[in-house]
Amino acid sequence: MEFKSKTDFIAITPSRQVCMLAKQYDDAINLTIGDPDIATPKPICDAAYKAVLEGKTHYAPNAGIPELRQAICDFTERKKGVKYDVDQCVVTVGAVSAIYLSLMALVNPGDEVIIIPPYWSQYRNMTLLLGGKPVMVEKLDENLNPDKDALESLVTNHTKAIIMNNPNNPSGHIYPECVLRAVADIAVRHGLYVFADEVYDSLVYERQFVSMATFCPQENMLLFNSCSKSFAMTGWRVGFLLGPANFVKSVVKLQQNLVSSVPSMTQYAALEAFTHGDEYIPEIVDVFSKRRRVLIDNLCKVEKLKFATPDGTFYTFIDISATGLNSQEFVFGLLEKEHVALVPGYAYGDGYDNFVRLAYTQNEDLLIEGVGRIKRFIDTLI
Ligand SMILES: Cc1ncc(COP(=O)(O)O)c(C=O)c1O
Repeated sequence: MEFKSKTDFIAITPSRQVCMLAKQYDDAINLTIGDPDIATPKPICDAAYKAVLEGKTHYAPNAGIPELRQAICDFTERKKGVKYDVDQCVVTVGAVSAIYLSLMALVNPGDEVIIIPPYWSQYRNMTLLLGGKPVMVEKLDENLNPDKDALESLVTNHTKAIIMNNPNNPSGHIYPECVLRAVADIAVRHGLYVFADEVYDSLVYERQFVSMATFCPQENMLLFNSCSKSFAMTGWRVGFLLGPANFVKSVVKLQQNLVSSVPSMTQYAALEAFTHGDEYIPEIVDVFSKRRRVLIDNLCKVEKLKFATPDGTFYTFIDISATGLNSQEFVFGLLEKEHVALVPGYAYGDGYDNFVRLAYTQNEDLLIEGVGRIKRFIDTLI
């Protein structure tokens, strides 16, 4: 029987595809991965272990264990200076499910969601899965900042939300305050929700991060975050949504019906992370900060590559136009000839086929070797 699925439009992500192909080479340098190669801090692992030994192996409350929800509110207040109550917090399976459940709670077929490119492809896929229409902002300045009027001109009677990923995956860009204010202003005047995906907010270099929550009234604001990137906990799958209590309530209902709850023991690990996390984050940031410096020092010596120094995340978005190749030709050529894996820019929206994403989630020696191979690849193109 032929099986037609509503998921047929979702292609295998280019990063996964490149990653799989890279496995055939013993000497491959894989710079596609959005997952820190750092181990989760030991006290966090110990907290999960202790929870298991103490018999915390049962279903957890649908919204998350109350101590964790409180710890998330406290952590967010310490970091962002914004206050949330426990009933405004739901613990989810990573930020990814917080975002999907929120879209599910909000988007009816035909509703529109505005997305600012370059973007994490899941926003588009999730919106389409729900029968919604992703609407991409087209006018950006050379620093990838959206133009306020252009953004506002996309708002229609069907618009429900604007998704704002800051710091941005794939570019590492941090949007200036004027952009955050503009998005908040548009959301308030048109009665929209801002989906503020701030999962990379701890990985910020040489500057302070200012959250969307500083400018956007809580009524319009959905704040997403997780343990994944800040605490090197991608596999633990703990994220959260902070938002208006009535919105959170509907997300909890969806969670109850779809996954019941986040596993108990990982919630206790997250409790340790959010309670004492302020101590772990600087060490993790220090690792990426050093790699970023090494990477930039080496990359800027490679002719034909143009890039903005990333303000945050562990990604660099590189303009390869001067090589004469598109992102697919560049990535697959580089992989075949030099065994270095990058992600082609078309994965992050139309108009980015002249970019590649490089993740500095590998050690400094591999980064230096990787950039050396990229240079050799470009030199052979002439
Ligand atoms: C922009 C962005 N948002 C959300 C996520 C999901 O993170 P989590 O592991 O918390 O589900 C990712 C993961 O790569 C991401 O890049």
